[in-house]
Amino acid sequence: MSRLLIVSNRLPVTVTREEGDFIVGPSVGGLATGLKGPHERSGALWIGWPGDLPRLSKEERAVLEERLAAVGTAPVYLTQAEVRRYYEGFANGVLWPLFHYLIDKVQPDAGENWLAYTEANQRFAEAVAAHYRRGDAIWVHDYQLALVPVLLRQILPEARIGFFLHIPFPSSDVFRVLPWRTEILEGILGADLVGFHTYSYLRHFSRTINLILRREVTGNRLQYSNREIRFGVFPMGIDAQHFERMAESGPVRDEVASIREDLGGRKLLLGIDRLDYTKGLPHRIMAVDRLIEREPSLRGKIRFVQVVVPSRTKVESYRNYRQELDGLVGRVNSRHATIQSVLIHYLYHSISQEQLVAFYRAADVMLVTPLRDGMNLVAKEFVATRTDDSGVLVLSEFAGAASELAEALQVNPYDTEATATAILAALSMSEEERRARMQALRRRVATYDSYRWAESFLAALDAARPRTATRAGRVSSPQTLARVAEQLRGAWGRVLLLDYDGTLVPYATSPQLAAPDAELLDLLKALAVHPRTVVHLISGRPPEVIQRWFGSLPITLHAEHGFWSRFYPGGWWLPLHAEAPGWKEKVGSILNEALRTTPGSFLEEKTAAMAWHYGMADPEFGERQAAELTRRLLRDLKELGVDLVPGNKVLEVRMAGTHKGVIAERIGLEPADGMGVLAMGDHRTDEELFAVLPPGSITVHVGSRPSKAAYRVSGPAEARALLRMLLDERAESTMERAETQGQEVGSEGQAEVRE
Ligand code: UDP
Ligand code: G6P
Repeated sequence: MSRLLIVSNRLPVTVTREEGDFIVGPSVGGLATGLKGPHERSGALWIGWPGDLPRLSKEERAVLEERLAAVGTAPVYLTQAEVRRYYEGFANGVLWPLFHYLIDKVQPDAGENWLAYTEANQRFAEAVAAHYRRGDAIWVHDYQLALVPVLLRQILPEARIGFFLHIPFPSSDVFRVLPWRTEILEGILGADLVGFHTYSYLRHFSRTINLILRREVTGNRLQYSNREIRFGVFPMGIDAQHFERMAESGPVRDEVASIREDLGGRKLLLGIDRLDYTKGLPHRIMAVDRLIEREPSLRGKIRFVQVVVPSRTKVESYRNYRQELDGLVGRVNSRHATIQSVLIHYLYHSISQEQLVAFYRAADVMLVTPLRDGMNLVAKEFVATRTDDSGVLVLSEFAGAASELAEALQVNPYDTEATATAILAALSMSEEERRARMQALRRRVATYDSYRWAESFLAALDAARPRTATRAGRVSSPQTLARVAEQLRGAWGRVLLLDYDGTLVPYATSPQLAAPDAELLDLLKALAVHPRTVVHLISGRPPEVIQRWFGSLPITLHAEHGFWSRFYPGGWWLPLHAEAPGWKEKVGSILNEALRTTPGSFLEEKTAAMAWHYGMADPEFGERQAAELTRRLLRDLKELGVDLVPGNKVLEVRMAGTHKGVIAERIGLEPADGMGVLAMGDHRTDEELFAVLPPGSITVHVGSRPSKAAYRVSGPAEARALLRMLLDERAESTMERAETQGQEVGSEGQAEVRE
């Protein structure tokens, strides 16, 4: 039976060793508490780190593993050095602050820690692979394990892998400062489904892929590495029923009564957080301080209980933060204390869940004011416990939970005055308003609970079954291509019609950078002097460039999609027809407008065409401007007597009736017995040539775009390998190597594909 394998850095239980015995207790943090219910209910196996333990003997490990197995978990042990470098150094010294927008807290010079991060991720991936059985779904969690999806994909290419990020995904301008940004993105993209708490994080992620990997995300899908990857928004919930039940239980009621008695009529402000600089504790304390300054009548009438749970205590920025906080609490308390009361009750330790729920239930106002937080489950837990429909939630707009909890009093935690005002509003809110807000909040938290969250993620993962390359993207198998080569070798003569950019060389960001290399020139020359072989090189580029690069080769050259042709070295470049007067001025003024308003774009002027290139502009802005320009041009195409040809980051406007299809007629290509015709291209413009070739011609598409070609290779390297096979049978082994490296091999020969 297929199972679910959950993978996270920290297990839901943390193990400590006391007097030779193992103590297994609950872990702190939203990931562990939120996922606990779905884990238990689904019977999944949860693989992760059981916490800092001394070196264990084989026997001790066996004892511990048995206890962990009893609660559905399996350990990945980390050495002290790994904890220091992978967990403290990189995950929490670099990724955590960066993803929370706190660039100044990012540890510099983290090269060694990055290495440890990659090694630890590899170990997690191997541990998961060891437990994996065919058909299992794998769900990887959080920033500590961002490389695990791709590492697992290498070991288990067919596995269904989901990844969920529990923290914010920052704006691309913040993320791009990470020296290992490409690796982290590619790591996550090993998954079939990537989930986030909010749309804002998903938007940042998509934009970052666009900017750094230069890939287009269409809707919530990305075609990458011959796979389709889906993205989704799944706001994590809590086990609401469990918290409701606890809130109504006898022991919690007793505890609430005792807290209230102790308050002696004072109002209770409550904060519960891990000790983390993202939680905005100094800002919160200053807002309370400000409130008392502004409203001295509140002195002695409120108590602020702040529970701070120790976290990542060995990371320097956390140690410094604690000192800062201790000092601040002392200063504010000394300012507002009376003989009878102290304002801030500051508890630096974790508390039992019973105590936690009692505090939630006793509070008048809950303060959840992080500077940045992926979701924040404390806010939702507080809401779930308020079955009395009372209590007010003050919530930072920078917590993921804010996108769901609209009825909370939302604040900008950096705005101390406004936060103080919100706390005052919460303290003085009418009972009616309190009820109305809390009822709405509670309904939502109860409906979208952690079970629903897990179910919807897993259903989406199931729907995103690895579908390697849709039919349109499959490459022909090495055997099929070998047969194609054999057919051409066996022909009496050969006509080769070869596109240049994207077919024989990869695209470069700027067209000038895509000059032919020596290997390609040698290959074309060898083909040209091969017995009874004619080579046509076909390009959309202007004749000057083609002449400069290929002028000395004994091949036929076609420039500007066939408007110009040169039939032999030293021959003239001949135009297809005379140029229509005046069209360039009109088109030019429209294209110039796009040029002026799109930094990084440029214009290329040819004889029978003008092209606006935007590959070096900001990718998102470039697409937007291209859409605008397309709309503008389509309006006047007929009147201008031109065709619009969208290309790879280029919009080309050319005189009507000039396209690669005219070449077939111009060179007198006709069906002939014993003549093999091979046409290769990567672009829509090549389809125009494919469409007019005599029956029996062999068409090959290069790349993954939709194409009507009969065969497909994945890129220029593979296209060249096929051409080499025309010269020499022995080259076939090279082809096989090129094709099998990281490529999905499709079904045989007749790989016609539809748009
Ligand atoms: N929590 C806990 N022990 C405590 C205090 C809090 O286990 O002493 C839990 C709390 O119930 C909540 C989690 O820690 O489920 C904190 O999750 P949240 O999403 O608010 O923040 P995170 O710690 O994940 O940043
Ligand atoms: C956040 C992270 C979790 C992490 C938790 C506690 O919720 O998203 O991945 O487990 O904090 O942090 P710790 O470093 O103790 O695991």
